[in-house]
Amino acid sequence: MFRRFVLSTVLAVTLCLSFSFASAQGAPRDAEGHEWWQHAVFYEIYPRSYADSNNDGIGDLKGITSKLDYLKQLGVDAIWLTPCFPSPQVDFGYDVSDYQDIDPMYGTLTDFDRMASEGKSRDVRIIMDFVMNHTSDQHKWFLDSKSSRTAKYRDWYVWRDGKGSNRPPNNWLSTFGGPAWKFDAKTGQWYYHFFYPEQPDLNWRNPAVEKAMFDVTTWWYNRGVAGFRLDAVDTLFEDPELRDNPVLPGTNRYGDPNMENKYNTKLPELHDVLRKLRKVADEHGAVLIGETWTSDITELKKYYGEHSNELQMPMDLMFATVNKVSAPEFRRQIAAVDGAGGWPVYVISNHDIPRSYVRYGDGQHNDAIAKLMAGLYLTLRGTPIIYYGEEIGMENNDPKRKEDVKDPIGKLGWPQEKGRDGERTPMQWDDTANAGFSRSKPWLPVPPSYKTHNVATELKDPNSILSFYKQVLALRHTSHALLDGQYIALNENDPNVLSYLRKYKDETVLVALNMSPAAQKVSFDLSAQGLSDAKAKTLVTSMSQSQQEATLTNLTLEPFGVYIASIAK
Ligand code: GLC
Ligand code: CA
Repeated sequence: MFRRFVLSTVLAVTLCLSFSFASAQGAPRDAEGHEWWQHAVFYEIYPRSYADSNNDGIGDLKGITSKLDYLKQLGVDAIWLTPCFPSPQVDFGYDVSDYQDIDPMYGTLTDFDRMASEGKSRDVRIIMDFVMNHTSDQHKWFLDSKSSRTAKYRDWYVWRDGKGSNRPPNNWLSTFGGPAWKFDAKTGQWYYHFFYPEQPDLNWRNPAVEKAMFDVTTWWYNRGVAGFRLDAVDTLFEDPELRDNPVLPGTNRYGDPNMENKYNTKLPELHDVLRKLRKVADEHGAVLIGETWTSDITELKKYYGEHSNELQMPMDLMFATVNKVSAPEFRRQIAAVDGAGGWPVYVISNHDIPRSYVRYGDGQHNDAIAKLMAGLYLTLRGTPIIYYGEEIGMENNDPKRKEDVKDPIGKLGWPQEKGRDGERTPMQWDDTANAGFSRSKPWLPVPPSYKTHNVATELKDPNSILSFYKQVLALRHTSHALLDGQYIALNENDPNVLSYLRKYKDETVLVALNMSPAAQKVSFDLSAQGLSDAKAKTLVTSMSQSQQEATLTNLTLEPFGVYIASIAK
């Protein structure tokens, strides 16, 4: 295409410029000013648990590549892989020992390149997990750092003297239990770890650390990666004076005193790093997704950046943990994030949060509730991230005995804290042994429900959770109202039914979600939208009895029923 037009220098120069713009900035914005990640559906994959190509019981990259057609037909545009870099696997990959390679248990860089190019040919982008707060204690930087007080990499980590005999530098606690400091006898100092002792915190005040880590992102961008999910961003910086954190009443699930992490989380300096990291991302048309644990909207807003120059996609984990099928609670949380000035990012579970199927299920209507949740997070204004297996209604499979626990926090906190194994079990592909994930014993067991809740079975059933996800996602990809429309809350005092419009120019979609176990009658007055005599035409519904057309003044919703309709006069 480029060569055909080299007729006039002017044209050639123009094209040159626009070509370099496109490659530097990624796909250009569409007519609405939206970028690719605003219209994309994201899907989180835990590589250990997705598909095992060599039957060693652990999922791998070739396995993921073999499932790209499945992901494409589901309606996925980008996959985020949790860490698959070389790692001693103390925290199952969140302890990285080399940022520029693939762990042999998951494959090779060649397998990665093949996955990326197969993804590219299907328009499925790859997002990597960037573990920036800490490395593994086996990373060559840390091995050097702990070798002597004058080692080249000493200052790449947070080393301090203790407070006299056997006392750490301050009272900070690891979020995974116990003190956040570990004594190193060889050099007589303590190092800081917000997570496991095998995950020493990097010292982000050292410019060499910043440079090395930024170079890692560029290296992956050049390999075709479309962005990063930034792990544990809250914890990048610590108070230089190491002030003690305020102690609160009571103890946590590890038996440690409760504490406000005032001096070791959410320090303002982290925003400088995010702004710089965003600059690098922008040069590559890449997106930055944040693991942003926030307690209110003001905190979440900060992650977008004052000038929208930090994270494009900070996850609203408050939405993810509403933990109650409640119209008023979801309505409040959606209104807050929708009005926050950034582009909302919705998730309903992930590898650290128990599966939505058990958190929201009432034991009786679980499948209906799984569809209800899909009807919610896939139709809001913003980008959804689907955790693998949510689309088939996978349930948590928590270990029954302490000796079966794999996640170290489950071993330490048993039985109050059973760890995160339950939400990380193998993807359920069919009803054969091990749910078709592997021919040998998987690293974690599949729950008995795999017999009914699996891809093969659900693909054949038009009323399955999977079929419902596919319908909603297909609609989402083609509906301007769902892609670009405003979010307009309706019937805001209804305690049972969460309803809203998505409106873009002349196109209006109504979403009504019955968040109660009883049938509900609803009526909508759309005169404020100039749609007083409008009719509803069913687009997607989870209900068995549903009219093709309905009047807006008399609509019955089945228990936990989802009704999505286009509205026209
Ligand atoms: C994030 C990850 C979690 C991991 C932790 C430490 O919270 O999501 O799985 O254990 O960071 O890297
Ligand atoms: Ca394998």
